[in-house]
Amino acid sequence: MTTAVVGSANLDLVYRVERIPSPGETVLAVSSDAVPGGKGNNQAVAAARAGAEVTFVVALGRDAAGDRLAAEARVAGVRVLDRRVDAPTGTALITVDAAGENSIVVDSGANARLSGLTAGERDAVTAADVLLLQLETPLETVAEAAALARAAGTLVVLNAAPVRQLPDELLDSVDLLVVNEHEAGLLAPAAASPQEAAQALAGARRAVVLTLGGDGSLVVVPGAEPAAVPAHRVEVVDTTGAGDTFCGALAAELDRSGFVAGRAKGTATRDLRGATALGALVSAARFASAAGALSVQRAGAVPSIPTLEEIRALIADR
Ligand code: RIB
Repeated sequence: MTTAVVGSANLDLVYRVERIPSPGETVLAVSSDAVPGGKGNNQAVAAARAGAEVTFVVALGRDAAGDRLAAEARVAGVRVLDRRVDAPTGTALITVDAAGENSIVVDSGANARLSGLTAGERDAVTAADVLLLQLETPLETVAEAAALARAAGTLVVLNAAPVRQLPDELLDSVDLLVVNEHEAGLLAPAAASPQEAAQALAGARRAVVLTLGGDGSLVVVPGAEPAAVPAHRVEVVDTTGAGDTFCGALAAELDRSGFVAGRAKGTATRDLRGATALGALVSAARFASAAGALSVQRAGAVPSIPTLEEIRALIADR
């Protein structure tokens, strides 16, 4: 079973502050650090640490940050398919306050150059059982990878973050959409609540996992009643990368599940519909929720991502 991730990598420049500054204000940091991050990289590492065999398609600069991100992802067990481009590796400026909440500004750099997938990158997508995507790289590339995967029978999981309008042809290729309340509201503006937005986004053949922070998540699968998955109650140190950890762990657990293993690649019986799909997704969401709960108790994006053993220990402890 293999998972492919096509997405971004950033060097996160993290400043811990008492409170996030208002416009025009200067505050002094309590501490600062530079650690691996980027939604694609976080999700690839999270899936690998959760036990998946992961290939990560990414654009990095020809610089020390690019070398560091590739090396640390490899140490985490990720097969990194990095193209090196004439642009600096992406960076993110992150402030984290005393309550563990953050604000993030991303300078895309090399991530903006991940376009026109090469033969090797396309092969990685079509050979995988699960493809995991986010929206920090050019939309055309996300759409290209999703369409290739869909045609090959690879399960397509899209985490619509950072949120932007999605063309219908991209959504048509997505089997499972992972969104938080804010993202769900923006993608389905006519809906009266995030839950209603998740139903609208699911439509007739797509599953949706709506993440609700400390309130857990809601799994919506066509042809079945929505199912709520509770969150673990934990002390929050830093929420950076928690959503990515959830997505990576979700993909890894789905990849391991009998549901994905039992799907005949490239056939019409692929849709996440009905009771069997709901069962597979609910158990993957429980696993992902434990991974997310572990990650918020530690600082940083990649440094906070738990291993399979840690996730299983937390689940067994419950
Ligand atoms: O989701 C968290 C990530 O968002 C950070 O690691 C940062 O790099 C931005 O991509």
